[in-house]
Amino acid sequence: MTAMNLMLMGLPGAGKGTQAERIVDEYKIPHISTGDIFRAAIKNGTPMGLKAKSFIDKGELVPDEVTNGIVKERLGEKDTQKGYLLDGFPRNMVQANALDSIGAELDRKLVGVINIHVDPASLLERLTGRYICRNCGATYHKVFNPTKVAGVCDRCGGTEFFQREDDKPETVKNRLDVNIKMNTPLLDFYKQKNILHEVNGNQAIEKVFEDVKKILDTIK
Ligand code: AP5
Repeated sequence: MTAMNLMLMGLPGAGKGTQAERIVDEYKIPHISTGDIFRAAIKNGTPMGLKAKSFIDKGELVPDEVTNGIVKERLGEKDTQKGYLLDGFPRNMVQANALDSIGAELDRKLVGVINIHVDPASLLERLTGRYICRNCGATYHKVFNPTKVAGVCDRCGGTEFFQREDDKPETVKNRLDVNIKMNTPLLDFYKQKNILHEVNGNQAIEKVFEDVKKILDTIK
């Protein structure tokens, strides 16, 4: 059986986190989101968190040496032996080359990349309408994906929700610009390696997941 060493790509708001929740439930692999790791470090007030915050608040990328180090440490943990799902890493060619080296060194070579493609015009609305369960981190949207019972998390029953600091319209615009610029070379890189799979993210969440599953079932 192939280790499911996977990566989810997509612009901010494309639905990476939303699909990641479903993928890790279905395939029982750990979800490694660099954004989540940074937000946890900010919450805990660690030196790395303080450094990351100054970039995240502006919609900029955290420096590569910080991000690459975190991913290397996380991929070295035992729970990634049968696979992992990277979400939001790599985001540029320096990180992609670093991941190749980490994969070779730790025997964690990437076998599949899923790019969730969404019309950029819809991303602002997705991000500014997003809300997150404070207890379990499940992601919702006030129009496209509300909780089944108003004010109660579907997954854990939590009743407190928050909006991300970097989902303010002025930050979202820069996040999109920064990421759009870096996306094309990355897509070309994984296309050349023959491990890139495209998914149409302009459809209902469960329909996107069906398409993702069809691809992943050919990899496992
Ligand atoms: P990160 O946390 O990775 O954020 P992002 O890439 O900007 O992506 P998001 O989490 O905002 O969006 P998503 O694609 O997960 O969308 P979601 O599923 O929530 O990074 C944050 C910051 O950390 C970066 O800006 C950077 O500063 C730093 N960072 C992280 N990684 C880094 C790295 N590798 N290097 C350097 N810096 C790094 O969906 C969005 C909304 O849409 C939700 O409300 C959802 O309910 C809704 N939705 C989802 N799917 C659909 C659908 N199909 N139809 C309608 N609505 C939908």
